[in-house]
Amino acid sequence: MKRIGILTAGGDTPALNATIHGAVTRANQLKVEVVGLIKGFNCLFNPRVPHVHLNPLYQNIPELDPTKGGTLIGSSRDFVDPNKKDDLDMVASRLQKLGIEGLICIGGDGTLNGLQPFAERLPTVLAPKTIDNDLGLNYPSEPDEYVRVNDATAKHGFRYKRTESHTQFDLNSIVNYATPGYATAVFVSASGVERIRTTAESHRRIAIIEVMGRHSGYIALGSTYGQPDIVLVPEIAPDLELLVARVKHLYDLQKNVVIVCGEGIVDEQGRELGAETKSTDPAGNVVLSGASEALRSKLIQMIGDKFFQLYRRGESAKEAIFTRKVGHTQRGGRPILFDRFYAAAQGAKAVELLVEGRNNAVSVLQYNTTKGFFVEGWGLIHARKMHPALYDPKLMKPSKLGMDYLMPIFTDAIGEDDMEHTRRTLFAAGNLSQPYHSINTDVHKRIRYLQAETV
Ligand code: F6P
Repeated sequence: MKRIGILTAGGDTPALNATIHGAVTRANQLKVEVVGLIKGFNCLFNPRVPHVHLNPLYQNIPELDPTKGGTLIGSSRDFVDPNKKDDLDMVASRLQKLGIEGLICIGGDGTLNGLQPFAERLPTVLAPKTIDNDLGLNYPSEPDEYVRVNDATAKHGFRYKRTESHTQFDLNSIVNYATPGYATAVFVSASGVERIRTTAESHRRIAIIEVMGRHSGYIALGSTYGQPDIVLVPEIAPDLELLVARVKHLYDLQKNVVIVCGEGIVDEQGRELGAETKSTDPAGNVVLSGASEALRSKLIQMIGDKFFQLYRRGESAKEAIFTRKVGHTQRGGRPILFDRFYAAAQGAKAVELLVEGRNNAVSVLQYNTTKGFFVEGWGLIHARKMHPALYDPKLMKPSKLGMDYLMPIFTDAIGEDDMEHTRRTLFAAGNLSQPYHSINTDVHKRIRYLQAETV
């Protein structure tokens, strides 16, 4: 294999450039050229196929910086319709004209689905990324628990139903223990929780902090490092009576309460509290917004004003209970050490998979209590939910196993250089006087196109 393509698809994460850097560095060693495809799958539908050579003469271009968040080649949530065979053949011929013999897609579960029709046309592998940490398997046999059932209302006349699990869950059996971007997202959300606590404490208020993750509770689980009192995850519907009793008890004791909720939390009927609107993004995902607001309304109604008046801590429940979203800061900025290191390793592994002749494979991050972390190639994985054994619904916190899950990732996740970087750069005098210099400005100058006549 002499030349491969690489693209980043779906929502950005802080570790995308680290994955690209790892891939390009390994490609340099193997004397493989790497072509970055601009704006994910979107560029393949543009007859000019904007692209950039990431390692001319097997040297990384200087713009490729693994410590910078986002992606220098851009990303989009555009995906390919697997039924449009002609479009797919056209895309394959464009890649062929560029001399691309294999493709690395850096993405999450949407990208994994999106790359399937490509894998029928050229060797294609996935390097995972997603702050939601919802890509992998809880144990290798998990896909066997899904059976196909006929359903006239489903798009293709059938759907997959999950059957009961008969497998013991243990940490060593997780396939793809953590995805690049997750650790940095937790770093941001846990720091946010820590900071909001002081306001809740000073003003005797109840804070509900909404974190990202869609239907996956991993970010909420990890936010426990910020020491919230209560953590709610989408995988397990909270018992509202128990929640209210716990909030009242804590408020009585410490005059403030901090609750973390995943944006995808559901009620006992499984309805998403946050799906205020039924809008979807281009990849078909339901746009979740408002879980914390919905939860606030429930608490206001169930606790009532009297409770706060009695304590002389405010006129109303509305005044006492407030919400904040950590928002897109979870997805941006400099990746912390754990993400940089393993994202790069997974990028490098993706190149090796292609060179070894693998197709439709995934470079996964594995963990073993004796061996620690290591990367390897894997076949079938899919979107996963956080295993319920990681959460204790009575305590509304991570279970013992949940803590055991988090510790290998986070104990040494922050590098000394991460803190030093903040110390040196945040208040640099130049930040006040110099305009922001976007990576897009530099990369744009390097973009090449397929010649019009060869399209
Ligand atoms: O999948 C990553 C993610 O950040 C989710 O946690 C969140 O729900 C969603 O993307 C937000 O997407 P957008 O950036 O399109 O608003």
